[in-house]
Amino acid sequence: MVEQDFIPKYNYKLTIESGKFTWQSPSNIALVKYWGKKEHQIPENPSISFTLNTCKTTTTLKFEKKEVPTELFSFDVFLDGKKQDDFKPKIETFFKRIESYLPFLKEYHFVIETSNSFPHSSGIASSASGMSALALCLMSIEKLLIESDVTSSAVEAFYNEEYFNKKASFLSRLGSGSACRSIEGDLIVWGIHKDIERSSNLFGIKYPYQVHNNFKNYQDTILLVDKGEKKVSSTVGHNLMHDHPFAQQRFEQANNNISKLIEVFKTGNLKSFIEIVESEALTLHAMMMTSLPYFILMKPNTLKIINAIWSFRNQTGLHICFTLDAGANVHVLYPENDTEQVLKFIQNELVAHCQNAHYICDRIGFGAKQNL
Ligand code: PMV
Repeated sequence: MVEQDFIPKYNYKLTIESGKFTWQSPSNIALVKYWGKKEHQIPENPSISFTLNTCKTTTTLKFEKKEVPTELFSFDVFLDGKKQDDFKPKIETFFKRIESYLPFLKEYHFVIETSNSFPHSSGIASSASGMSALALCLMSIEKLLIESDVTSSAVEAFYNEEYFNKKASFLSRLGSGSACRSIEGDLIVWGIHKDIERSSNLFGIKYPYQVHNNFKNYQDTILLVDKGEKKVSSTVGHNLMHDHPFAQQRFEQANNNISKLIEVFKTGNLKSFIEIVESEALTLHAMMMTSLPYFILMKPNTLKIINAIWSFRNQTGLHICFTLDAGANVHVLYPENDTEQVLKFIQNELVAHCQNAHYICDRIGFGAKQNL
């Protein structure tokens, strides 16, 4: 598919005056990381992620036809019931990017009411769940407009669930790249990879090959090391890959790691899984440390946790590992069978390194998105 396939082929009649939709959408954690993009949110390398089950954003989108059409986007944003004007520039940029794909955007005034299942400014990226929840609400409006307007069975057949999900992922990507991996579960690939059929730079697809039972209900406990706001926005971070001395090697490495993961998912080789996932996390941070300007997002407690995980793994032989996002928090990944022992270890040894002893137990989800 190409970008033009997401431009509606018919004019909406806009017979709907007002309404509202609510969607809940999950966060995701990348195993092979997306870091570096071209124009129009096209990733420099493919990435693959676990969709999460518990960390979610719930968004209600209310819409009302403007009395007098204007050339401006009109919307208000609320987080947990409080007006959040500092979210507006990001949403304005999102609306500009998606306007040609959703031509009704300037016809309505929108009220966006959003809340997260995880604490705000916990350092957990809410852009993936937030942008995907908003994209899903917008898709519901488009579907309503089409259904109320066009009766042709050909159009209805075209506008099926598969197209809905693809376009929702396509739009989410234009809000925040990684958000395109939050529309479905449980393992999502985004970006063209030579060994993955139908992989696309435009939207995420469900990982299409065999996945060993070892990865069923894989657990992710998120240790909140630093709840402060991110010091570097991911947009700035991605741009630093443009003149980065190791960029090409990094993009190649990500492609190779996905090829290796295909075999790992098939055979259930947890040792190789751990090696790839931890190397990806450290490479992401190595890219930040070696860009200009350079920065370090890990905190002393991040390193303490990583070292404690390594010792515990050596002592017990359990398949526990870590991954990181663009921040100081640590995602502890482990198979469902090891849950009891790992949780004890987390409580006894790792929680002390978390801010206010705060951590969140999550797991891989089969796409927790929900139309409420
Ligand atoms: O979606 P963005 O633009 O905020 O980028 C997120 C990138 C990482 O979270 C660091 C890695 C990834 O693939 O999710």
